[in-house]
Amino acid sequence: MKVTVIGAGNVGATCAYILSDKNICKEVVLLDIADGIPQGKALDMWEAAPVGSSSTSIIGTNSYADTANSDIIVMTAGKPRTPGMSRDDLLAANIEIMRSAIGEAAKASPNAIIIIVSNPLDAMCYTALKLTGFPAHRVFGMAGILDTARYRTFIAMELGVSVKDISAVVLGGHGDTMVPLPRLTTVGGVPFTELVSKERVDAIVQRTRDGGAEIVKYLKTGSAYYAPAAAAVEMVESIIVDQKRVLPCAVWLQGEYGSKDIYMGVPVVIGRKGVERILEMKFTAEEQKMFDHSAEAVRSVIAATKL
Ligand code: LAC
Repeated sequence: MKVTVIGAGNVGATCAYILSDKNICKEVVLLDIADGIPQGKALDMWEAAPVGSSSTSIIGTNSYADTANSDIIVMTAGKPRTPGMSRDDLLAANIEIMRSAIGEAAKASPNAIIIIVSNPLDAMCYTALKLTGFPAHRVFGMAGILDTARYRTFIAMELGVSVKDISAVVLGGHGDTMVPLPRLTTVGGVPFTELVSKERVDAIVQRTRDGGAEIVKYLKTGSAYYAPAAAAVEMVESIIVDQKRVLPCAVWLQGEYGSKDIYMGVPVVIGRKGVERILEMKFTAEEQKMFDHSAEAVRSVIAATKL
């Protein structure tokens, strides 16, 4: 298996490193337009492999020719947020980066599965779908795993328990309108809503919605990358190993959850073919309202792509 990561910034490089360290693919290609940066970072990572136990090779490049026949492409290139910005404010800059990168990447690897990480996430997935002409099960986005990971972390902090035992899902768009579902959140099988007050549930839901901005506020010059990279690798691993993980990902909806012709975060089965199945569930009226509200927000950013 060959995996290309586009963008050798913080998210892309961390993604390449976590992936190569897992020793689950033959080759990782790290591509960036910056001369020397992908080459230097990739060589540094490959030199870390003998100390660890991975046989994955990692090359850095500025040329799409080196990415030819990749099985998976992880698109991370784009500007990150700075304090005060919403993800949607990145559309104008990042759509240009997407335009120049994704077509070339798709041409070099016509059978690849594309995982979008660049923001604004849902609109960037749509942009990639339109620009590549790939079938929708091979173009989807990383967001729900990250948002859910943040939510699980905050619950683990609150209760002083292992993050591993928090089972949860955050759906909807990757923005301020995302939809955490406390009703379906359990702590080792115990309903989360029975362990803390409604006020604490609400506070944790809000912190999750603001999770990306919280990191941006600390870093000042950029956004989160360890958790986003780890989340993207979880998707890559499920494809490579054909794990059939059930993960919340931004996928193209055709009527599921009452939405059509839109990318939204919902639970899906991820395997060797990409998005293999969308799992549906019945929302409460309030959850459906939140999901629809999130869809409206995503739709307005998608409309701004003018594609
Ligand atoms: C975040 C950005 C990467 O949520 O979207 O941190």
